[in-house]
Amino acid sequence: MTLNSIIYILFHLLVPALDTFSNTLAVAGDPDIIYDFASPQNYSVNGSFFTYTDLRGVLDQIPLSFKATKVTLVEFPALNGQSISYAIFQYPGGSINPPHIHPRAAELLFLVSGSLQVGFVDTKRTLYTQNLKPGDVFIFPKGLIHYQYNPQSVSATAISAFGSANAGTVSIPLSIFSTGIDDVILAKAFKTDTYTVKKIRSGLNKS
Ligand SMILES: *[C@@H]1O[C@H](CO)[C@@H](O)[C@H](O)[C@H]1NC(C)=O
Ligand SMILES: *[C@@H]1O[C@H](CO)[C@@H](O)[C@H](O)[C@H]1NC(C)=O
Repeated sequence: MTLNSIIYILFHLLVPALDTFSNTLAVAGDPDIIYDFASPQNYSVNGSFFTYTDLRGVLDQIPLSFKATKVTLVEFPALNGQSISYAIFQYPGGSINPPHIHPRAAELLFLVSGSLQVGFVDTKRTLYTQNLKPGDVFIFPKGLIHYQYNPQSVSATAISAFGSANAGTVSIPLSIFSTGIDDVILAKAFKTDTYTVKKIRSGLNKS
């Protein structure tokens, strides 16, 4: 066997193997940093850098409409590179967190009080829905459309953890109807007319 044919055989054995290997390396979190933590350059940190205090009193007031208070790397720079973040949700009676996507993270929701009807839709367009009781934990897989609804008249409170310091939010209604996509395109996409598209747009503008 010549050296060339050995290289040829090795190459054809290795390439599929490497391909399989790289396919199994699906990244579940943010890119790793090569430091213990990411602090601003030439900034000497102490315990305060790792402490976020702006959630103090966050649950003292019940808002009039659905409210999300986020703790991402934007609000809390120490999260940078740690693949984790939080959001505190308050749902007055009858309110919803409309269908949306977090492109960079799964979401783990813990219902503190009240009740929530939650759901997500997978890529086969199967809806998974559940009525949560206080103490229940629900996982919304990464990148899938999901929502929460408080069907009761008493308010509900939930806390979510995200597997990214910057999970990102794509609101389905706002991304589609409030970004200037042409009425004709939306009318065709939703198999309706431009009058209906305009009506949806103006409804969303009223917030
Ligand atoms: C950081 O500190 C080093 C050493 O004191 C200095 O040479 C460098 O210019 C500083 N960088 C910045 C961005 O301040
Ligand atoms: C910790 O760092 C902050 C910000 O640099 C500073 O204001 C604070 O005084 C420091 N605390 C201690 C105990 O050194």
